[in-house]
This record gives sequence, structure tokens and C-alpha cells, in this order.
Amino acid sequence: MITRSELRPTPPPTGVAELEVKSAPESIKAARDFVADWFANGSFDRDLVYVARTVVTELATNAHRHGSTKGDTITTRIFHTDAGPVIEVLDASAKLPTPKPLTLDGLTGRGLAMVDLMVSLWGYAPLPDGGKVVWALLRAHA
Ligand SMILES: Nc1ncnc2c1ncn2[C@@H]1O[C@H](COP(=O)(O)OP(=O)(O)OP(=O)(O)O)[C@@H](O)[C@H]1O
Ligand SMILES: [Mg+2]
Repeated sequence: MITRSELRPTPPPTGVAELEVKSAPESIKAARDFVADWFANGSFDRDLVYVARTVVTELATNAHRHGSTKGDTITTRIFHTDAGPVIEVLDASAKLPTPKPLTLDGLTGRGLAMVDLMVSLWGYAPLPDGGKVVWALLRAHA
């Protein structure tokens, strides 16, 4: 069986944009603005940029709420691959995401289910030095 961690797209040797922030409510907006700026420098479909902003918002919110305590580092990375742009959010917690099926009546537990619907592929992997990465491969053409 192929696991989600084995599917993690390989970053190119150069051209990985990276933002490191301390976990705080403001770090979510910082990650969103960072991704929006990266897309502003290319000629991308507006829908794809919207998806990218939404995906990073969900992943950065999770990193802040579930994957870190105040002051831990949250890292957002973005890069091109042949299959499409990849967004990664790294946090300090070894606890892995537990996606739930999308329901109409739940008030929480829908972020990752929404991400799953919006991207080509997503996954997570523990990192060698502790913590983990949650990644999403966007559709090249939204
Ligand atoms: N970065 C993370 N670190 C640790 N646990 C995580 C992380 N991301 C998600 N999880 C776990 O996976 C669950 C599902 O995440 P998901 O984003 O789908 O829902 P939620 O964050 O609980 O609610 P919502 O996103 O709808 O506000 C979370 O409740 C949490 O237990
Ligand atoms: Mg969430």
C-alpha cells in the first residue's frame, strides 16, 4: 500500500519559497498573504489562487490550533512541480491530522474534508526532527 507520506511531492532543488512564523492567530493571515503574494508573481487562473488561499488558511489554522502551542514555529512552503503548485505547512507537533467525512450538520471537522475536495492530492508525513508536514498539490488548472 502506498501511504500518504510516500506521495509527498519532491521540492525542486531551488525555487522553494518559505515563510516561518511563530504560532499565533496572526500567523494564519501571514501564511495566506505569503501564498497570495507568491501567486501574484505568476500568471495563474483566479480560481486557482482562490483555492490556494483557502487551502493554506485551513492548513495554517490547523497548525496553529491543533499542531502547536504559543511561540512554536509554523513554516509555510510553496513551490512548482510538473503536476501543479504545492503548498506545505509544517508544525512542531507529532500528532497527525485525522480527517473526517464531510457532514452537513457538523460545525467543525470539515477543514480537511474541504481541502480534499479542492486539491489533486494532499497528505501528511512526520518529519525526521520531530513535527510534521501537511501538504497539498493543487490542480494545475483549477
Ligand atoms: N496540524 C495538525 N496537527 C495536529 N492535529 C491536526 C492537525 N490538523 C488537523 N488535525 C486533527 O485532525 C482533525 C480534523 O481537522 P479538520 O481541519 O478537518 O477539522 P477541525 O480543524 O477540527 O475543524 P474545522 O477545520 O472545520 O474548523 C482535527 O480536529 C485535529 O484533531
Ligand atoms: Mg481545521
